[in-house]
Amino acid sequence: MIKMIDLPYPINALEPYYNRETLAIHYETLYKGYVDKTNNILEKLEKMRNEGNFEAVKCLEKDLSFQGSGAILHQLFFENMAEASLESTLSEKLMNRITQDFGSFEKFKEQFTESSKVVEASGWNLLVWVPKFKKLEILQCEKHQNLTLWGCKPLLVLDMWEHSYFLQYKSKRPEYIEAFWNIVNWNKVNERFENIDI
Ligand SMILES: [Fe+2]
Repeated sequence: MIKMIDLPYPINALEPYYNRETLAIHYETLYKGYVDKTNNILEKLEKMRNEGNFEAVKCLEKDLSFQGSGAILHQLFFENMAEASLESTLSEKLMNRITQDFGSFEKFKEQFTESSKVVEASGWNLLVWVPKFKKLEILQCEKHQNLTLWGCKPLLVLDMWEHSYFLQYKSKRPEYIEAFWNIVNWNKVNERFENIDI
């Protein structure tokens, strides 16, 4: 069974860039839903194996990919944000790697911003480390589980589902993305990069 993470900051801590109402619904209702549904699927899979009845195996495994990825990405998302007052900065190691793989931090930020704007329908934008390529890349993800590179390690994720911004920003995606840069917790991003075996 998987567990919800506690929010690492108060529910109103990301204001004015990410308002309390949006975060409350996102964390307490939507994220909880992904965790609960994932646990429900895990139970059903165990029951299926115990009973030797694999009629629902296709549906359950597909659901596990969707709901489970939803739970994982939301955890990563909530953890890679922080109060704007935290003023975290990129580590020298990650800054060097970003410069090597994107040309400069500005180029990385520009690509991440532009690709976030064009994520199709409901999805995510991710800065990832791709072990097989030995480099950083940016990936647009559809739903929670489509369009990945196998084995990639997410370092920074941005939820581009409408539920993540519509209450506060309506259809103004660029404003939501611009606001996000103020509340990125670079300490967490550094930590994720530090934990990768390069
Ligand atoms: Fe979300």
